[in-house]
Amino acid sequence: METIIGTDPEQAARLLKQGELVAIPTETVYGLAGNALDAGAVARIFSAKKRPFFDPLIVHLPDAAVVGQYVAEWPEAARRLAEAFWPGPLTLLLPRKPIIPDLITSGLDTVGIRVPAHPLTLSLLRALPFPLAAPSANPFGYISPTTAEHVKTSLNGEIPYVLDGGACQVGVESTIVGFQQGQAVIYRKGGLSPEAIAEVLGLPDASAIPLMTSSSKPAAPGMLIRHYAPRTPVMVGPDLATMAAMYGGVTASLGILAFHTPLPNIPLSRQFVLSPGASLTEAAQNLFTALRFLDNLGATLILAEWVPDHGLGLAINDRLSRAAEQP
Ligand code: TXA
Ligand code: MG
Repeated sequence: METIIGTDPEQAARLLKQGELVAIPTETVYGLAGNALDAGAVARIFSAKKRPFFDPLIVHLPDAAVVGQYVAEWPEAARRLAEAFWPGPLTLLLPRKPIIPDLITSGLDTVGIRVPAHPLTLSLLRALPFPLAAPSANPFGYISPTTAEHVKTSLNGEIPYVLDGGACQVGVESTIVGFQQGQAVIYRKGGLSPEAIAEVLGLPDASAIPLMTSSSKPAAPGMLIRHYAPRTPVMVGPDLATMAAMYGGVTASLGILAFHTPLPNIPLSRQFVLSPGASLTEAAQNLFTALRFLDNLGATLILAEWVPDHGLGLAINDRLSRAAEQP
């Protein structure tokens, strides 16, 4: 079965109603979607991605108004965030109702919920009588897809259809926020900045929001140390020129991931500049395309530099550090 790339939401809806999987565009990354209320479709998502069952899925809804069908209660802070940022790159972890299959939550008592900001996918969600479970549409652990072609490259033959909504505008996954005693906790850095969250919650600054820490055997899933990773080894540091001088010996062929300025002594064909104007928004949009490009160079090592550690830069640096972990 050849995977078709198309722009017809009705075709996507037909397939999803038959229990098939369809890749969908969102503002963050492309998702691999199936009927969230059908345990069989949900199981096929795990097998198409080769994803371990301990890693739970996010449920996508058309509107905050239907959250109550799937969630037992929401803390005041969650309501405020939903009101401010949905549709948008924010996932909320909320106590689930029994209608959510166990497979989706990996047995946890919370479910990740998000209203994505993409017009095609919102109209698809409105046309369906069920919500969509959708992880990023990449094989488990590999770089997330931000175009329909990225999806087809790694999942061709696994799914019948990719709904093509163009290149993702945010480019990194949603920020995941859970609640402990009603207080917001960040589980994954992402497309919504902690500064923006702090402002809506009336907190003095982003440092007032605790961060769940990573691990290789996560007690709470979704925080694996190595993730979003190319097959080529990645090193990340503060200064590309120094790293290139240290590691660019005669035997090494380097790929370079620069924030705004390429290295002078390395061919431009082996470099990707995330944003010549040093915009973190543009850098996030380009990040996963850049990692895919560099992974396909046949380099022995990819060198990357940290971007400024605020706003979207927090999510970019998070993805770089996970890509750089040894397998
Ligand atoms: O931007 C996004 O969130 C994209 C688009 C498609 O919506 N989706 C996405 O899904 O990134 P995925 O499956 O690649 O990442 C979801 C993360 C996982 O790491 C999972 O462990 C975490 O969310 N997660 C989901 N439900 C959770 C829960 N109840 N508790 C803790 N972590 C949860
Ligand atoms: Mg993912």
